[in-house]
Amino acid sequence: MSDEPTTPPLDAMSLRLAAANALIRRRRTIKPQDMSDKPVETRLLASILENANWAPTHGMTEPWRFFVFTGDGRKRLADFCQSLYQKVTPEKEFRSDKFEKLGSLPQKASVVIAVGMKRQEIEKIAEIEEIEAVACAVHNMHLTASAIGMAAYWSTPPLVYTDEMRQWLGLGDPRDKCLGLFFLGWPESDTWPEGKRGDTLEKIVYVPK
Ligand SMILES: Cc1cc2nc3c(=O)[nH]c(=O)nc-3n(C[C@H](O)[C@H](O)[C@H](O)COP(=O)(O)O)c2cc1C
Repeated sequence: MSDEPTTPPLDAMSLRLAAANALIRRRRTIKPQDMSDKPVETRLLASILENANWAPTHGMTEPWRFFVFTGDGRKRLADFCQSLYQKVTPEKEFRSDKFEKLGSLPQKASVVIAVGMKRQEIEKIAEIEEIEAVACAVHNMHLTASAIGMAAYWSTPPLVYTDEMRQWLGLGDPRDKCLGLFFLGWPESDTWPEGKRGDTLEKIVYVPK
């Protein structure tokens, strides 16, 4: 027997785990302020949306809906968000910095995807599970974007939850919901941001056998 330290085997399972760890832990929120004006290619956008469609879904309801804004559409979205903010914000709570951001952010990202939850007619599945399924779909988009080095940001200003926003997107049933805006683009910087999380063990209880 040799005294050489043994190298852990690079078997297929270890490689797949390493790939999953890298993908999940490297995913980062990168906001439109830090996106370049380089356009997102149609084929990459299509892959991101296709992966969203592979999210888990209780009862196969597939409740996610995506409204994709590019080009001048982003300006129409920005204008609508600004006018909605003006409408729903009491005068003493109105903040001009927020108003300005609502107008500028959609135009700093190459693509903005308004995320919708379509409620099933027969409501067989609990609403919270439909929202959870849409969150999984957004996460799939974010993981895919990070895998290809793209910047992405899920934004949820309060106005996205209003009836006005839902209707403007064409989600006609009052039980449907808009769950936010997903901004997508290429990062301006070559440096990928560091992530930060607290201790995993603080969130886990290993129940005694
Ligand atoms: C459902 C949801 C809504 C979010 N909404 C906002 C938001 O409105 N504004 C914001 O700054 N970040 C928002 N975020 C992004 C978080 O700020 C971000 O995930 C967090 O800072 C951790 O960074 P990371 O995504 O790079 O790990 C949201 C994230 C989730 C899951």
